[in-house]
Amino acid sequence: MEKFVIHGGKPLVGEVEISGAKNAAVAILPATILAGGKCVIENLPNISDVSASVDILSAMGAHVRVINKHTLEIDTAHITATSVPNELSRQMRASYYFLGALLGRFGKATVAMPGGCNLGPRPIDQHLKAFVALGAKDSVEYGMISVESDSLRGEDVFFDTVSVGATINAMLAAVMAEGQTVLENVAKEPHIVDVANFLNMMGADVRGAGTDVIKIRGVKQMHGCTYSIIPDQIEAGSYMVAATITGGNVLIKNVIPKHLEPITSKLEKAGATIEEFDDSLRVYRTGDLEPLNIKTMPHPGFPTDMQPLMTVLLTLAKGTSIITEGIWENRFRYVDELTRMGANIQVDGRVAVIEGVQELLPAPMRAADLRAGAALVVAALAANGVSEVDEICHIERGYEDIVEKLRGLGADIKRVEKPAGVLRQAAL
Ligand code: EPZ
Repeated sequence: MEKFVIHGGKPLVGEVEISGAKNAAVAILPATILAGGKCVIENLPNISDVSASVDILSAMGAHVRVINKHTLEIDTAHITATSVPNELSRQMRASYYFLGALLGRFGKATVAMPGGCNLGPRPIDQHLKAFVALGAKDSVEYGMISVESDSLRGEDVFFDTVSVGATINAMLAAVMAEGQTVLENVAKEPHIVDVANFLNMMGADVRGAGTDVIKIRGVKQMHGCTYSIIPDQIEAGSYMVAATITGGNVLIKNVIPKHLEPITSKLEKAGATIEEFDDSLRVYRTGDLEPLNIKTMPHPGFPTDMQPLMTVLLTLAKGTSIITEGIWENRFRYVDELTRMGANIQVDGRVAVIEGVQELLPAPMRAADLRAGAALVVAALAANGVSEVDEICHIERGYEDIVEKLRGLGADIKRVEKPAGVLRQAAL
């Protein structure tokens, strides 16, 4: 068990390089199954969710060759298994993308039913709605979900709710279905477009990704390709918030500024100055932090994955802020930890009211999930004194080399082994 020990209170200054997008990577890796050949995937983030996806591919018979820290060659020609081993698929929720990819290539797939998680219920009814519309039958047995079809046929699907996962899974299943599929009320996140671009590089015919309607003409066969994943919008946003809250000055490199606009516009209102370049941003703050009203929404609205980070920022604003969570039922679980740092936040259901305070006090804290964990790290960076963040496995699912990157900006952060508790020691 490890934790971060952070001596906060210093402005972050310097340059940081953003890694590839986690939420694109965890879809693109399963999608390589559709190639039935060799794909070279570049700009993969070196994080545990990517390792988990690669472990699944290897266990299913894919040949994986490491080219460098961020590039893998994946040959899916020899995969014959259509079932993802239970213990592997339960390591990450995004293993549901193996359903769409295996169904698309082999006409059948079995994956562990994704459980609820720290953000509240996470149903997959819209994923299944799309598979069934394309002609698949679904069933659940012993916690495993199976989908199967003799021949997938293109169809019109209108999603009842805008879902990133369902949009991507429907694309994966439809690219080799016979005829045309029209997906309506789809998600428009940058990683939806990235997955569509990757599918097209493998020979698919997907149009309209990034708009409300995606049209897919089924192709008979797909093939391997070389593809570079887009930069991670949320990792970039996290460093933007860290620079702003500490009153620092950070050049954030390897980003697509357009993807960051929903975040940039709110941070500017909160008092940050942001200079945009072709593939980088400079973020700094000299004046006070101003309060904001934010509601999280599907893209191009303000991303829910930035919500815990913005809450932390607004704890130090001069006035009252309101944050409404528009996507997940239970995404304020980290607020108790911030309260222990002296933050003044009242949560009622999906709404948090934040009264700005003069300072955050250092405290020991526990990460409840990935983005909540990152938010606590940022809070610790802003607090004068030594804080600790526990359960960092959540953070390492999605942030590559966070300690090294923050140290490069002058932060005093280290990753330390937690001593085993009395009972654990006795059991050893
Ligand atoms: C993706 O989750 C991301 N995960 C999440 O990021 C992110 O918070 C979320 O999109 C929203 O942007 C990955 O890409 C791996 P959804 P996903 O389907 O696809 C409801 C992070 O921190 N819904 O867009 O699972 C659902 O309950 C993670 O990186 C249904 O009702 O999210 C939610 O209210 C956390 N039925 C809303 O739609 C369904 O079948 C949006 O969920 C599917 C979803």
